[in-house]
Amino acid sequence: MNQRLNKKTLTLGAIVIVILVVTFFVLTSRKKSIKPSPVNTQQATLDKPEEVVEQEPNTAQIPSYDLTTPSSITFIANKTRPLPASYEPTDLITPDVKLRLGAGAEQMQFRNVAHADIKEMFTAAKNDGVTLVFGSGYRSYSLQKQFYDGYVARDGVAAADSYSARPGTSEHQTGLSFDATSVSQTCHLEICFENTTEGKWLAANAHEYGFVLRYPNGKEAITGYQYEPWHFRYLGLELASKINTSEKTVEEFFELN
Ligand code: DAL
Ligand code: ZN
Repeated sequence: MNQRLNKKTLTLGAIVIVILVVTFFVLTSRKKSIKPSPVNTQQATLDKPEEVVEQEPNTAQIPSYDLTTPSSITFIANKTRPLPASYEPTDLITPDVKLRLGAGAEQMQFRNVAHADIKEMFTAAKNDGVTLVFGSGYRSYSLQKQFYDGYVARDGVAAADSYSARPGTSEHQTGLSFDATSVSQTCHLEICFENTTEGKWLAANAHEYGFVLRYPNGKEAITGYQYEPWHFRYLGLELASKINTSEKTVEEFFELN
């Protein structure tokens, strides 16, 4: 009888041990497999408001540009954004690049702030076998008036307004815009400049030196001017690259007008 009891007790004990061991393994393996996915982690954070960390806006990724101070390298002039008639940049210099006119001419000036970049651009083009020529840079209010009045007398107001800025509204007054040409002056200030080696080189590379093509083809209704494949505006490397990548005009990029 005692022997039978002992046998029964041992069997029961063995069954209990087996059940305990199996339960232990089942529980531990389940714990390992319930790993929270990233979504679960986020949800867990959201479920505990006290643990939610407020994110500061990443202002480093939303740079602001000064579009309204005349001396700012990102000042934008257009038909509705004139410069003061008296504005003249304080750092005008004669750039150390190939010039179309004599060094004393008003138009043969550019702002010193952009000098290193324009010089580097002309040198890079030269290294690629392309000789750029600085056709026209800074224009005072009075020089703009002289040009505009001459075009109106020749072609009439409507035509002149399609290709020449009224006095005080030309980006040439910023000292940061220039018209490019070539040694032969083939297609000088003409649409066919886009097909010259100089025009092609600039269209492909100018943004790498801080310049944008200011009046692109097909954007006349936005910029207010006909396509000018020769007119480049300095805005600094970062902004010029962003605008170039965006394939927008300056007006579209900044949502002006
Ligand atoms: N040709 C450009 C629009 C200017 O006169 O500034
Ligand atoms: Zn121009």
